[in-house]
Parts: sequence; structure tokens; C-alpha cells
Amino acid sequence: ASLEMYVDELPQMPKVLGYSLKYGRPEPTHLTIGMYEKKWKFHRDLPATTVFAFGTSAATATFPGPTIEALQGVPLQVTWENHLPDRHILPWDPTVPTAIPRAGGVPTVVHLHGGVHPPRSDGHANAWFTAGFRERGPTWSTPTYAYPNAQSPGVLWYHDHALGLTRANLLAGLLGAYVIRNPAAEAPLGLPCGDAFDRVLVLADRSFLADGSIYMNCTGVDPRAHPQWQPEYFGEAVAVNGKAWPLLAVARRRYRFRIINASNARYFNLSLSNGLPFHVVGSDASYLPRPASVTHLLVAVAEAFDVVVDFSESATPEAELVNTAPYPYPDGDAPSRLTGKVMKFAVEPAAVLDDRSRVPARLPEYVEVAEEEAAAQRRYIVLYEYEDAATGSPTHLYINGKRLEDPATETPRAGTTEVWEVINLTQDNHPLHLHLATLQAVRARGLVGLEEFRRCMERLNDATRCDVGRHAVGEEAAVPEHERTWKNVVKIAPGFMTTVVVKFLMVETGRTYPFDATAEPGYVYHCHILDHEDNAMIRPLKLIK
Ligand code: C2O
Ligand code: CU
Repeated sequence: ASLEMYVDELPQMPKVLGYSLKYGRPEPTHLTIGMYEKKWKFHRDLPATTVFAFGTSAATATFPGPTIEALQGVPLQVTWENHLPDRHILPWDPTVPTAIPRAGGVPTVVHLHGGVHPPRSDGHANAWFTAGFRERGPTWSTPTYAYPNAQSPGVLWYHDHALGLTRANLLAGLLGAYVIRNPAAEAPLGLPCGDAFDRVLVLADRSFLADGSIYMNCTGVDPRAHPQWQPEYFGEAVAVNGKAWPLLAVARRRYRFRIINASNARYFNLSLSNGLPFHVVGSDASYLPRPASVTHLLVAVAEAFDVVVDFSESATPEAELVNTAPYPYPDGDAPSRLTGKVMKFAVEPAAVLDDRSRVPARLPEYVEVAEEEAAAQRRYIVLYEYEDAATGSPTHLYINGKRLEDPATETPRAGTTEVWEVINLTQDNHPLHLHLATLQAVRARGLVGLEEFRRCMERLNDATRCDVGRHAVGEEAAVPEHERTWKNVVKIAPGFMTTVVVKFLMVETGRTYPFDATAEPGYVYHCHILDHEDNAMIRPLKLIK
């Protein structure tokens, strides 16, 4: 039996201030946030679920974790503590490159996704630690992370990043939103504001057993290669802020929604059943130069969109938030009756007379623009999926045929711009994510003679020697207007070469970072489908001076 939709109210996650106001003005602060095993109610009619959750205490831990509110220019320190039990609540696979502590425990490490911060605070996959810091991975150096918040206002999120366990740790609940604000700069924009009208929506699909526990397969797609690993996790229920298919009563006015797709592998193609548009004002941790209105919003895994919806224009008393993205995206099955629905808005009948919010014509712009000419370096980044010759099932995925353990080949100079030509030889769209950097796709070009090119690449693993220029001549796909800003996740379509401008500097000022980005242990870049990242579509990103 499936759960009834729209019976639980959309939760507002607890808010944790990333600054103190002791002296009447914002001062830097130091937070301690723990990871706890907890019970969490995903639905009125589902028994409470055991999760791993972030919180400032065990009692206040939530799924997703508290929303951290930071201020631009006010640095924040966070000590991330692991209070998890000795055993994981979900299956994991020791045959993918994985953190395996000698004395048991759940390895975790926290990455602030979209954050511009020093390498030691980045949550490197090998900087994991178990409860009480009893055991620590090889690149662990500090329990306390420094987030300068020097970057512009925007939507970020924090989540686990432990080697080989990211998919299980996020599925268990180790994720939460982080918003950077600048009230002085943002208030004049006139966007909907305040806790009631500026809401974070964290989307995540999960399957549950009748006893309420999270269901994750424990048998691999090709168990001889990997006893547990599957190429993508897809759940049959859609949770928003930790409730399956919640309901939000809205007034006839504008709302700002900061939508984060925190699923392991599911893309969402969102639309409103009554046809209301999304006025997109930002994506990931950046504003767009000007709002772009769309009726369908394709949100890749780990991608964020900052949108305004004007319910005063609703012709119906209800609007369902609907999902039409096939899974895997783009060539998989259409979403089911269940995963085709996300949540519902119940629009109050009475008109609101005092909505003074607006969608401004112009939004904050950054000094840096996406110019290919500025690039110091052009790199080819190739996404591969490997299959078992006998069964045809996927066994692992790599970038440039290499793993995280292999020496860094992407070693950009801090303060420079590069062009990454990202070639997707697989069937699926992959959300490419770089730590630290900001990136912008400028175009995608179809690959012709794909089979021949793929065979050559599998042999030589060298785009130049495989004559990429002769193959990357297919149809050109434009980047949608609402994705033309400084992002941290870019969708890479199958069978295309996507040209991405990557900035290793502060796009707000055009200057280099206010910290040493070349320090150990460096950064990483990866596919953000967590099942791909864990096996092993992740590579080092080592900046040099
Ligand atoms: Cu959102 Cu490397 O991750
Ligand atoms: Cu991928």
C-alpha cells in the first residue's frame, strides 16, 4: 500500500545562525553541529524511521539538518562532530574505494557544497572520522572548519563526503541547507523575504519498508563485481524537508523558494499543475543577471534553483508540484504515479492586498563573465561507464579513465580561468560538480560518429589523438537562460561535448581567493550522482601557485 499524499505539513527546518549578534552587529561565531542516530517521521502513516541527522544536539537533530544562515563577509567556524553508532543503518560496499575504519563506526566528513573555503575545511573524502574522532582518514587535519563567507549571497548545502560512503550517508540523512545572505545588498531587490515567504525546499527521494526503515538494496547489479553497489539509487517516495509529499498552505502572494535536489540519483523536471511559472532569480550559489521565467525546471542532482512563484496569479485553489523527469535521466522510465508528484500548495482564497515583494528586472551581477578567450588552459574531461563483458551491467564509472587515488592531472593555477570540454560517452546525464571553483556551461555540441569515437577513447583515452575536433561537430544545444550564471553543478548531456568555463577565482571581484587554495589536501571534482561518485567518478583537483 502506498502512503496518502499531502497529509503532512511542509516542515520549516530549524534555523541556526552562522554569526552572533552579541554586540548589536554581526560578529563571527563558532558552531558545534553533530551527527546523531535519530528517529524521524517521514509521514503521518509511516512508523518513525531511523536516520542519521545533523543537529546542534541529539534532541534537535532533523532530516534535513538545520538551515545554517550565514552573512556575506562574516566568517563562520563549525566543529562537526560524529555521534553515530558503530554500525551503519544502510548497506555499503567494501569493494568500491571506501573508508573502512579498523575499529568499526561510521566514517563521515562534511563538505559545504558551493562554499569557497580553504582545502583543510573542504571535507576531503579521505579526511573522514568516526565517532569521537576515534579514527581518522589519511587527509584528516582538523575537527573545526573555517567558512570565510567571502562569496556572494546564495544557496549552498552541507552534506557528508566520506570516501565510498557518500551515497549511504546522504541517504541516511546527512545533509542540510546553508544560505548566505547580505541584507543590505539584497533587501533593495524586493524579493519575498522573511521565514514565511522565503523558504528552503530540500527534495530527496527515498523508499521505505513497512516498518518505516529506509530501503536500500543490499544486492549489487553485478554482485560478482560489487556485492552491494548499484549504479543509481531511486526511491519510490518524494520527501520535501523530510516529509513525503507534504502540503503547504500559501497566501495569494509571491513566495521565494530555494530548491535543492539532495537526491542520490534522481533528476526532477518540476512544473506546477496549474501552469504558474517559476521566475528563476538564481541557481546554485549565484544570482542570474536578470530573472528568467520557465514553466519547467530541470533540477539535476545537487543542483539548486532560487525561484519566485506568484500565487496571486493562481486560477485554481491548489497547485501540485509535479515531476516529469525520466529516471535515469534522460533515457530511463517515466516517473511513477508516486514519484511524479512532489508536494502540493493549497492557495488561500482571500486576496492579499499588501504584498510589496516583486521580481526585480535586474539582479546582482559579478565582475567575471564567461569568456572562453580568457582561458589559460583547455582540458578534455571524459566521462566513462565500464560494463561487464558477459552481463552488460555497469561495474564502475571513471573520469578520464582514472580514480581518486591516481595522481592529480587537473592542476589549475589559482586566480585563472580555464575551459573544460566535458565529453560524455555514457547513456546518462551527469551532474558535474567542482569544489571551490565556479563554472558556467556555454554550449554543448553533439558528438557524431560516437561509436567510433568511443572505441578510440576506450583504447587511447586521449581526445586529441582520437580526433575530437572531427567528432564534436553535431547539433549545438544552447544553455538555457536560467542556467547562465556562476554555478557549481553543470548538467553534462550524453553524447555531447559540453564547453564549460571554469573560474579559479572569486567571480564577485575578479580577485584570487582570500586564503591559500593551493594547500593540502587539495579539492576534488566529481559526478554528483552519489552512486557514481562512490564508484569512482571522482578526481583530485589540486590548485597550484
Ligand atoms: Cu555536493 Cu563534492 O559535493
Ligand atoms: Cu554520473
